[in-house]
Amino acid sequence: MKHYLQFKDLSADDYAHLFERAAVIKKKFKSYEKYHPLTDRTVALIFEKASTRTRVSFEAGTYQLGGSVVHLTTGDSQLGRAEPIEDSARVISRMVDLVMIRTYEQEKIERFASHSRVPVINGLTNEFHPCQILADIFTFIEHRGSIAGKTVAWVGDGNNMANTWLQAAELLGFTVHVSTPSGYEIDSSVAGVAKGSHYKVFKDPLEACRGADLITTDVWTSMGYEAENEARKQAFADWCVDAEMMAVAAPDALFMHCLPAHRGEEVEADVIDGPQSVVWDEAENRLHAQKALMEFLLLGKVQG
Ligand code: CP
Ligand code: NVA
Repeated sequence: MKHYLQFKDLSADDYAHLFERAAVIKKKFKSYEKYHPLTDRTVALIFEKASTRTRVSFEAGTYQLGGSVVHLTTGDSQLGRAEPIEDSARVISRMVDLVMIRTYEQEKIERFASHSRVPVINGLTNEFHPCQILADIFTFIEHRGSIAGKTVAWVGDGNNMANTWLQAAELLGFTVHVSTPSGYEIDSSVAGVAKGSHYKVFKDPLEACRGADLITTDVWTSMGYEAENEARKQAFADWCVDAEMMAVAAPDALFMHCLPAHRGEEVEADVIDGPQSVVWDEAENRLHAQKALMEFLLLGKVQG
């Protein structure tokens, strides 16, 4: 049994399979071809933080594959009334075939997984967001082909998205140029990568973007860090992806953002709404990539 708790839980071969399956499953969906490999399977979706894309993509995706979902939040389950996570895992995993969790500390999802009888998927923790990077790289491949050897510029917070990009770079052989304000740097030990492996740190965000094949950013304040909002607004003021940053990147550079976005903060409207932005494909691809992931975790390397 495999869990998907961080990006490096799967191998480069597994990713090659997932990107291929995501394309096949997307094609079936676009041509209204029925594909129900999850008939009679149930997926629990547990949200301890807000979500639009993750909820809709997992919920719609499960139904489209012929399965059913149970949706739980902290507020309407015993999770919010201090039932131990281990007990919740033991019980929920006896009743469903797959669990997706969005929560706070990575340690919490690890405890859940170690007491679960069924595969567990990380739908975002403070440390990682592997489903998003899975969809992002699938989107890059659709637009530009293999990401191996390419350069991704990360402009902004050293957060869950940044950590996951670092893991992906190490595993799939590309480089991340990271620029964060001081005090918000990435930490290779939290990201779970070798120090300096497949990433370079830049003080100046413009220099991080120079020659990049993809520029990407995220909100200045992630969920769970709202108390730091005002301090972050000041610290991040120069970490806004703008036309000047896009101009020094490769001429065919793409722009991505996991969304939700704040125009005028981490990205200017003319970039996110401009011709190099692929954010809507990126969001849609959460659906197709995660359908491939669920198929893989439950049924292995399906062909055809
Ligand atoms: N990108 C992403 O995970 O979006 P949601 O928070 O809306 O799920
Ligand atoms: N880094 C953001 C991503 C939201 C999808 C957060 O954790 O809130």
